[in-house]
Amino acid sequence: MKVSVIGAGTMGSGIAQVFAMSGYETTLIDIFPEAVKKGKANIEKSLAKLSEKGSINSTPDKILGLIKFSSSYDDLKGSQLVVEAAFERLDVKKDILAKVSSNVSSGTIIGSNTSSISISLLSSFVKEPENFIGMHFFNPPPIMKLVEIVNGNRTSEMTRNKISEISRQLGKEPVIVNDYPGFVSNRVLMPMLREAIVCLEEGIGSVEDIDKTIKLGLNHPMGPLTLCDFIGNDVVYDIMEVLFREFGDPHYKPPVLLRNMVYAGKLGRKSGEGFYKY
Ligand code: 3HC
Repeated sequence: MKVSVIGAGTMGSGIAQVFAMSGYETTLIDIFPEAVKKGKANIEKSLAKLSEKGSINSTPDKILGLIKFSSSYDDLKGSQLVVEAAFERLDVKKDILAKVSSNVSSGTIIGSNTSSISISLLSSFVKEPENFIGMHFFNPPPIMKLVEIVNGNRTSEMTRNKISEISRQLGKEPVIVNDYPGFVSNRVLMPMLREAIVCLEEGIGSVEDIDKTIKLGLNHPMGPLTLCDFIGNDVVYDIMEVLFREFGDPHYKPPVLLRNMVYAGKLGRKSGEGFYKY
């Protein structure tokens, strides 16, 4: 089965790596050649780590050999599954999905890794909405076990079953949820991240102490501010905006501090500075 992934950022490159690690012939496409280069470097770094620990049953070179890196939608040809992992912006996804849909043959499943945008809405941009589904991976995709499968209003049972089966083949645990803002994962996560940022804004504690409280007191692998930097503060901001718009609930309102950090380019690990310096 040939799989293509659109978008070579942290998630897209990680998702392509996950497919290749399970032996799928994979194409990673990003219209920006620089992004493709960066995505390839991410994959090489991650495979080197996993190989060092003996947690892959092939060599990094063989896995890399299964991935074609491209900047052209022509390379979608022959794909039976396409996973869209572009920016969390409706206009960007709309454009990409329309292009993907007109470049693949009938019967191809298109999955979106969207964190918060409605799957039913996104499905209206493709020719076969019954073959469209949410396939939400978690950062870092090679490590995190969950795939949150999101059932759109017109997703067929066949598509749902196929994506559950593929997720298991990837060594992941699937959960199937219905199309509601933020699904389950981000609906629950975002208010926690928001409250941590508001605690900082209100001077309740320092960055380090807020993180320490949650990490050690609640036994989370990372403190919430470290997690914001890890996910990308721009991504966190975009998700909160969608959730706030959809629910109208102030628990989802993006804090001004987060907005200003995004405007200032303090996006977290990927930009070298966020709540911490890297
Ligand atoms: N590739 C390969 N290996 C990786 C990796 C990657 N990209 N990232 C981390 N690792 C490995 C490390 O090599 C290390 O292996 P070891 O334990 O065998 O030595 C292991 O993972 C742990 O890494 P570290 O020691 O560097 O750091 P941690 O112990 O803190 O683990 C973590 C890193 C797995 C990322 C852990 O901190 C964690 O689980 N954090 C929470 C992540 C999380 O919540 N992700 C979901 C975000 S929400 C999301 O993605 C949804 C979206 O819609 C917003």
